[in-house]
Amino acid sequence: MSPTALGIDVGGSSLKVARVDPATQALVSPFHSVPTPQPATPAALVQLFAQLAQQLAPADPVGIALPCVVQHGIARSAANIDPGWIDFDCAAAARVALGRPVTVLNDADAAGLAEMRWGAGKGEQGVVLLLTFGTGIGSALFHEGRLLPNTELGHLQVDGREAEHQASARVRTLESLDWPSWAMRVNRVLAEYHALFWPDLIILGGSISQDFALFEPYLQCRAPVRAAQFMAQAGAMGAALAAIEEL
Ligand code: BGC
Repeated sequence: MSPTALGIDVGGSSLKVARVDPATQALVSPFHSVPTPQPATPAALVQLFAQLAQQLAPADPVGIALPCVVQHGIARSAANIDPGWIDFDCAAAARVALGRPVTVLNDADAAGLAEMRWGAGKGEQGVVLLLTFGTGIGSALFHEGRLLPNTELGHLQVDGREAEHQASARVRTLESLDWPSWAMRVNRVLAEYHALFWPDLIILGGSISQDFALFEPYLQCRAPVRAAQFMAQAGAMGAALAAIEEL
C-alpha cells in the first residue's frame, strides 16, 4: 500500500489537489489548483481526475471531495454544480477511469476530517462544527472526533432564505458586502446553528478563512469561533486522508 494519497477537492471555480503523507501530516508535493471545467459535468470531471492522478501520483489511492451529498460513493445533490451529478456513482466511475481505489465524500466533511486530525480541531472533543464559506456554505459536524456526514447546514432556512444564499463568500462578492455587513449575516446564521446543535467550538474554513483577521472583530456567537488552519487546502487534504483510511 502506498504511504501517500492524492486528494482532489472539486470547487465551483477550481479543483484543488494535494498529495499527502498521513504519517508525517505533510504535503508531499506542491499544492495544485486547476480551473473547474465548465460545464462541470461528471464526464468532464472524471476525465480530469484521471489526468491529474496519472500526472501527479500514478500509484496513490485517490480521495475525491464533491460539493454534493455523497452516500456510499454516489453523489445525491448538486446545489452548486452541474445537475448531472445527482445519483451519479462517482466512486464506481472514477475507479474504472483511474484503475485504482477511489474514495468519494462531501467537500466540507473532507475539510473537517483534515482540520480535526491535523489542524484547528486537533484534540478537540465535544461537539465541533466546521463550516466552509465559498461558493456555498458547507458543514461538517463532529462529536468526540467522529463525523456525522452530509449535514448540509448551508441549506437551512434562516429568516426565510437558505443560509448559503445570504452569507456564502460568493454572495459577499456578488453583493459587494463590506466585512461588517457580511459578518452580520454570518452571525444570524451562526445563531441558528448554535440554537440547534450547541457546538463547543465552531471552525470557519473555505476560501474566506484566509481573511479571518479582517472579519473576526465583527463576529458574535455563543460558541468560540476560530479559523481553519489549512483554509482552502483542507478539503483536498481531508480527501487524501479519507482515501488512506478507507484502505
Ligand atoms: C452543498 C454542500 C457543500 C457546500 C459547500 C452546498 O451547496 O449542498 O454539499 O458541502 O455547498 O461546497
